[in-house]
Amino acid sequence: MVEGGRQDGRPALLVLLCSSLLLNALFLAHHFVFSPPRLLGHDDGGGSSCGLSWSLQAARDAEAVAAVDCSGHGQVFLDGVVAGEDGRPGCECNTCFAGPDCSIRTPNCTADADSGNPLFLEPYWRRHAAASAVVFSGWHRMSYVTTDGKFQSVELERQIRRLHGAVGNAVADDKHLVFSAGSLQLINALVYALSPDADADASPPARVVATVPYYPVYRTQTQMFDGREYRWSGTTSPWANASRNSTDGDHGGFIEFVTSPNNPDGQLCKAVLGGSAAAIFDHAYYWPHFTHIPAPSDEDVMMFTMSKPSGHAGSRFGWALIRDENVAKKAYSYLQDNTMGASRDTQLRMLGIVKVMLANLHGEGDIFAFGHDMMRTRWRRLNAAVSRSRRISLQKMAPEYCTYFKRVREPSPAYAWVKCEREEDEDCEEALLKAKIITRTGVGNEASSRYTRISLLKSNDDFDMLMERVTDLVNAEKYDNAPGSTSM
Ligand SMILES: Cc1ncc(COP(=O)(O)O)c(C=O)c1O
Repeated sequence: MVEGGRQDGRPALLVLLCSSLLLNALFLAHHFVFSPPRLLGHDDGGGSSCGLSWSLQAARDAEAVAAVDCSGHGQVFLDGVVAGEDGRPGCECNTCFAGPDCSIRTPNCTADADSGNPLFLEPYWRRHAAASAVVFSGWHRMSYVTTDGKFQSVELERQIRRLHGAVGNAVADDKHLVFSAGSLQLINALVYALSPDADADASPPARVVATVPYYPVYRTQTQMFDGREYRWSGTTSPWANASRNSTDGDHGGFIEFVTSPNNPDGQLCKAVLGGSAAAIFDHAYYWPHFTHIPAPSDEDVMMFTMSKPSGHAGSRFGWALIRDENVAKKAYSYLQDNTMGASRDTQLRMLGIVKVMLANLHGEGDIFAFGHDMMRTRWRRLNAAVSRSRRISLQKMAPEYCTYFKRVREPSPAYAWVKCEREEDEDCEEALLKAKIITRTGVGNEASSRYTRISLLKSNDDFDMLMERVTDLVNAEKYDNAPGSTSM
């Protein structure tokens, strides 16, 4: 009589159910109305909180270091040097600031505008702290291989393709994607992939070239690995001129680096050698923070890095988009032999970062709008100061239509390419150093020493210090030009 028994017990069951619901409601009301909200950081340890257990301590530690403000002129890092007796890492101060809490400004400090450290984006990630935090277990992807036996996260690949599509800066769908530890690693990987095989006795080594002023690492890295397959062959101009004067304009056996926009002068560039020369397009800065995007780039071999668009240079993550399957396979095998691919921890972090970038496109938290705004303001301020100078000048840049913003945008280059105009300032880097500004000489770019590069990518403190020194330099010209004065 199972059914009869069920019918008989129904009212009792209902009473039980109702009282259980009532009890639960009372319990929840007490929890939310009468208990103070429990912060993760206030958990007294040991037990679980919000269903979390092993990640709590890590979350607490991460938030604790991030909460120290170091007077707004420095940071505490989880892996920073332990400073005091409390066993906690201390503040690491920005240039020109010192003291345990970075509150002391170094008097008469030299501005450091040398490296392309992209710290201008740090405030963006502070605003998006929750969305960009990453937590993972101690046993996360310990294996050499990841999904499908590869070295690359399939999901990260998908999100990077989405990012290119949404920004409109590269055609990615018909290309192979190869990850690397920073795009620096791609320089040799791609040169190797495009060069003839060492055992192909008949073919001479590939000639690797770039146009002045070029990013010096193409030269230094190619020279470092110079071998049977390829060798550094200098700048493009003698080869381009030679082919103009001969019938052989083919350029077979050349590999040309094309940096667009260029580091150091921010100009969009095209390949100089035509014919069958291979070209590697370095698009480190082909993002709307730094340049207008006239159209998606659709070159055979393109390299990108996360260092400049998101600012995570320390994570060391880059990627190449390659049309030809065999070239992609060769680049992939280089990276396999060299490092077994990019760090899986980095790939996980990048996955989160790319997702945040994508989720905020064209919205209030758009990283490209933020980045462009910041870089445009810096470029404007530097231009305004330098426009009063007869001693130094900057590259000329005009507003251009950008397909990402769907409007004409003001220039916002990553670097200022400074020319020293006075005859005696033949070594521009040296001249600016005397004015307490560290820059990077144009000699490295095979340009003249009359040129030097100022980085605009660094922290707000770095930029403010730079503006102080540039203003001093320009103001000093008034006195130099006064009757009876000697020039600096
Ligand atoms: C033109 C260019 N290519 C490549 C790189 C290297 O970037 P990554 O940090 O990905 O190694 C840089 C870095 O400044 C760069 O300016």
